[in-house]
Order: sequence, then structure tokens, then C-alpha cells
Amino acid sequence: MSMPERVAICEVGTRDGFQIEPEFIATETKIDMVNRLTAAGLPRIEVTSFVHPKAVPQMRDAAEVMAGIERRPGTVYAALIPNEKGAMRAIEAGVDKLHTVLSASESHNLANVNMTVAESLDKLAAVAPVARDAGIPVQGGISTAFGCPFEGRIPLEKIEAIAARLVDLGFQGISLADTTGMANPAQVQRILEYLIPKFPGIEWNLHTHNTRGMAIPNILVAMSCGVQSFDSSVAGLGGCPFAPGATGNVCTEDLVHCLHAMDVETGIDLDELVAAAQRLEEVIGRPLPGQVMKAGPWDRRYAVPHAVEERLAAL
Ligand code: COA
Ligand code: ZN
Repeated sequence: MSMPERVAICEVGTRDGFQIEPEFIATETKIDMVNRLTAAGLPRIEVTSFVHPKAVPQMRDAAEVMAGIERRPGTVYAALIPNEKGAMRAIEAGVDKLHTVLSASESHNLANVNMTVAESLDKLAAVAPVARDAGIPVQGGISTAFGCPFEGRIPLEKIEAIAARLVDLGFQGISLADTTGMANPAQVQRILEYLIPKFPGIEWNLHTHNTRGMAIPNILVAMSCGVQSFDSSVAGLGGCPFAPGATGNVCTEDLVHCLHAMDVETGIDLDELVAAAQRLEEVIGRPLPGQVMKAGPWDRRYAVPHAVEERLAAL
């Protein structure tokens, strides 16, 4: 299997993760979590989203969170936005990068952002000059790219047509999102092998959810197809409030652990990341899906039982 030497991980826990929490998480708690993730060496963090506060009340403090975080030089602090108003608010708040949101399926796009796909693309066309004037790069996200909980599989031509529009708008990256964990490795390979050569110079990102346990296999296949940028969520928190059955993103520390075990670099300190995940579990107040924070890393060693020790000594 061909593997890149290094991949860039974008932490989305404070956005995709926090947005599904029904209880409002205090602004200082959100800021503290972003700071811990920065300290753990995450190269990219999707800090929050600038959406309508009635649509996602949890994100209503987006500007305060951006204003309160400690920014490490070199770390990219991004935010999710659905339209020009979101872009202007995010730029005003000082983001380094915009992540736009639209879905490949009409029904999910209507449920999520109250627009048809064509209407969303028009809104994103208005985002492009705002970003360009501010000198801010844009990654265009395509949700439900591998399947929609209402419509099932989405024709590849539809994904391609949306990607082509986003590239025409001058967006620097495209993120394919498996919003409800419907993707499988063979499908990921088929889609990426088809799309990547058609759009030279575009940075591809994969946004996975581990709803059905297929996130890491999907990421490994994407890596073998040349993708080097992945979203993940600390402790595996996450889900879309407008997609039935959506559960957590691939867990950041589980993914980092897997990559480091294979000698793929991330620049992330796994111990600090695990500490952040354990802190998050306390904040959220229920067990979270992350596995490495419970099991420890693969090279964890346990004391040999006494009886075994005696037998070993006699060998
Ligand atoms: N931030 C804050 N307010 C916004 C906004 C934004 N990004 N975009 C629009 N608004 C305001 C408008 O200014 C307008 O305000 P007014 O009534 O005071 O004039 C109002 O919202 C309605 O504008 P409209 O464009 O008709 O929006 P809408 O009501 O159809 O909602 C979205 C569209 C996209 C703003 C809304 O559905 C949304 O924020 N969805 C986000 C969903 C999400 O985050 N999902 C999870 C991520 S995957
Ligand atoms: Zn997501």
C-alpha cells in the first residue's frame, strides 16, 4: 500500500462535535478546548461555524470563540460558513480560512441550509469575491458526497458538476464529506480515482464519520489515492443535527495513533491529544467513542503476572 510520509489533520471537534450538543457549552470551555488542541500540535482547526444562530444555537458565540483563542503561528484556524453573510462574519472574526458547506443531495441541502443545491452554489459564488478581497483561501465542502440518508447514493456526475463549479469559483480545496458514514473503501477509491485527475492543483480533503466503523479504512484508501488532508474530531464527538442517524466523526487520536503506528507523520503530540480527549469527556459528561484514550497506544506494556514471572525466570 503506498502511503504519504505526512498528512495534515484538521480538527473539527469544536464545530462538528459541539454543534450536536443540546446543552450550551460555555464559551470559555470552547476556547479552552481549542487551546488544548493547538497545544497538541493540530496543524488545522475548524474552530466554529458562522451560521444562523437559530439554526445551530450552539454556534452563536462563534465570534467570541475566535476572539478568545490563543493562536499559534503556523496553525490554520478555519470556520464553516454557508453563505456570504457567514463569510463576512468569519473574516471579521479573523479566520485564516473558510470552509463552505453544501450537500450533493437536494433533500439534505434543504434540511441543512434551507436552499436547493443551485441556490447554495449561487450563495457560494457570492462568497468567492469576499474571500478573494480578504486574501482568505476557501475549501469547498460537499456533504453527503458518498450517500445521503434521504436519497441514498448520489450520481458521480452530480459530485463532479458541483466540484467543477467550486473550482471555477477559485476555491483552493475541495472536501468530500461522508456525512452519515455511508462510504466504503471501494467506493472511496472509485470516486477519488475519477475526480482527482480532473481537477489539477486542487487540495482534496476527506471528511469522514465513523457511523458504521468504516472511517479509518476509508481514510487509508484515500491516502493511497493521494489525499493528504483529513478532518477528524477529538474523542470521536460529532454529527450533523440535520441528518438522521449521524454520529461522530472519525476520532482524531485514534486516527493519529494509526498513522503514527504506520510511520506517517502528523506533527501532533498523541499524549497531549489523548489528554484533551479525556478532558472533553469530562466536559461532555458521557463516555465518548475514542478507543485509544481507553486502551492506550499499541506499545503500551503491562506488568507480567507474578506466576508468569516465576516461570519466565526459570526458562
Ligand atoms: N449568520 C447569521 N445570520 C445569517 C446568516 C449567517 N451565516 N445567513 C443568513 N443570516 C440571516 C440573514 O441576515 C437574515 O436575517 P434577517 O431575518 O434579520 O434579515 C436571516 O438569516 C434569513 O436569511 P436567509 O438567507 O433567508 O436564511 P435562511 O433563514 O434561509 O437560513 C442559513 C439559511 C444557511 C443561514 C441557515 O439555514 C443556516 O445557518 N444553516 C446552518 C446549518 C448548519 O450549520 N448545519 C450544520 C453544519 S453541516
Ligand atoms: Zn461532519
